[in-house]
Amino acid sequence: MAKNFDVVVIGGGPGGYIAAIRAAQLGLSTACIDEWKNQAGGPAPGGTCTNVGCIPSKALLQSSENYEEAAKHFGDHGITMKDLAIDIGKMVARKDAVVKQNNDGILYLFKKNKVSFFHGRGSFVQATAEGYEIQVGEETLVGKHVIVATGSTARALPGVPFDEVKILSNDGALRIPAVPKKLVLIGSGVIGLEMGSVWRRVGADVTVLEALPTFLGAVDEQIAKEAHKAFTKQGLKIELGVKVGEIKTSGKGVSVAYTSAKGEAQVLAADHVIVSIGRVPNTTGLKPEVVGLKLDERGAIVVDGECRTNLPNVWAVGDVVRGPMLAHKAEEEGVAVAERIAGQHGHVNFNTIPWVIYTSPEIAWVGRTEQQLKAEGVAYKAGTFPFLANGRARALGDTTGMVKFLADAKTDEILGVHIVGPMASELISEAVVAMEFKASSEDIARICHAHPSLSEATKEAALAVDKRTLNF
Ligand code: FAD
Ligand code: NAI
Repeated sequence: MAKNFDVVVIGGGPGGYIAAIRAAQLGLSTACIDEWKNQAGGPAPGGTCTNVGCIPSKALLQSSENYEEAAKHFGDHGITMKDLAIDIGKMVARKDAVVKQNNDGILYLFKKNKVSFFHGRGSFVQATAEGYEIQVGEETLVGKHVIVATGSTARALPGVPFDEVKILSNDGALRIPAVPKKLVLIGSGVIGLEMGSVWRRVGADVTVLEALPTFLGAVDEQIAKEAHKAFTKQGLKIELGVKVGEIKTSGKGVSVAYTSAKGEAQVLAADHVIVSIGRVPNTTGLKPEVVGLKLDERGAIVVDGECRTNLPNVWAVGDVVRGPMLAHKAEEEGVAVAERIAGQHGHVNFNTIPWVIYTSPEIAWVGRTEQQLKAEGVAYKAGTFPFLANGRARALGDTTGMVKFLADAKTDEILGVHIVGPMASELISEAVVAMEFKASSEDIARICHAHPSLSEATKEAALAVDKRTLNF
């Protein structure tokens, strides 16, 4: 017997599980299907983000940062340590425990909100008068509405499949069993820099090979330059403008042939190579074709600005649709779709989605970059403030980087805020709120910020737009 629901969500990552919770909160009978398995074969909802993405990467970034702090910076505070060591097995096990807490937390939230959870792969069967039939294992569910949130998977280099032993995706990169002597990352995007940082901090010799001639092209140029300087100083080797050639595995490890920006043929030998060249939308096993759900040439589900697909009452959110592949973007879309199904007016402001790269220094931004404003011919004013002149940053012993404001030359409305430096991930929230409320740089400059705090650098950068910093 088929089980009927107002809403069936396929995929239990941040897009799907949040959509399911919001739909249930709004009084809709809701099911969420997710196929991710833990090591014991049990359910592990939370998707890429919880299992092999945001959460485990941040757990490893924290462990490795603690280690580097102890090894290189505790001495500055008069703290000496003998026999400092890191147990990689324990570091990875702690990360696994953090992941499990999050998986269990989602199962608890499903119960609390009366979301029916089904563990397995959901596939479209047919559209009927009652809704869409979805098969999951032996069960048939019927949803008046369906929200597809099936996420994304790592993109492999052509002809170089992941073996997760030597040629690693983000999955294998998060569970390398011992510190590699040499590690090569292909792609100096978000994963390349975060995972490269983790393994460099614990002792690996890390080289990042990037195809583009510019470093972090999507980031404000001034900020990217500052970050590049900091990463290079830390010992991360970043080669830009390379063309990756043959990748060969052997008993010993893996070799990566490439042509450098100068046109020289090179070969790097390493214990592992992490391929982090972007991600592709995932519709494996969903059977979109049986109901005529439209995909684009990249394999993404085609949606409008409100996440409606070409089929009535079928919606899609998160990494499987257009837009940035970020957990918080997926969540916002999930909430908005649930609210639209319930007859409300859910909304997502794509102009105020923050980005964060959790390296050290952290990089965070919202809104447009200086190069984008120039290209669009927008008249703007810029203001920057270095952490070097911030009392709290000095007390922390972390004065790398700056806060940068870009504001409209006429109206002073904030158009973009870019931060490289300590706790940029937290500091950016103020800028997001300000931009959401269409604040001017003067609004931020006039607000009282606690002293001593890193957020004073934000206020000072806003003051800098009008060339009136107080502490620099
Ligand atoms: P996913 O999280 O991919 O979830 C999709 C789920 O659907 C999966 O559980 C999958 O098994 C399931 N599924 C797929 N098909 C079916 C089916 N047919 N039936 C049943 N279940 C199915 N983003 C950030 O914002 N901040 C970060 O710090 C961050 N760090 C990241 C680090 C790494 C290493 C990676 C790889 C990604 C990171 N991301 C980060 C990106 C983030 O993980 C994704 O944007 C986010 O997970 C997308 O959510 P989603 O719900 O669309 O898809
Ligand atoms: P990415 O898109 O961030 O970076 C990929 C990089 O690889 C680019 O710089 C690209 O020019 C380069 N590249 C592409 N093909 C190449 C080739 N053949 N040789 C060398 N370089 C090549 O993708 P990444 O790092 O794989 O991450 C995927 C996505 O996951 C991110 O875009 C982001 O949406 C999400 N993510 C978010 C995080 C966060 O929010 N902190 C952390 C990690 C991932």
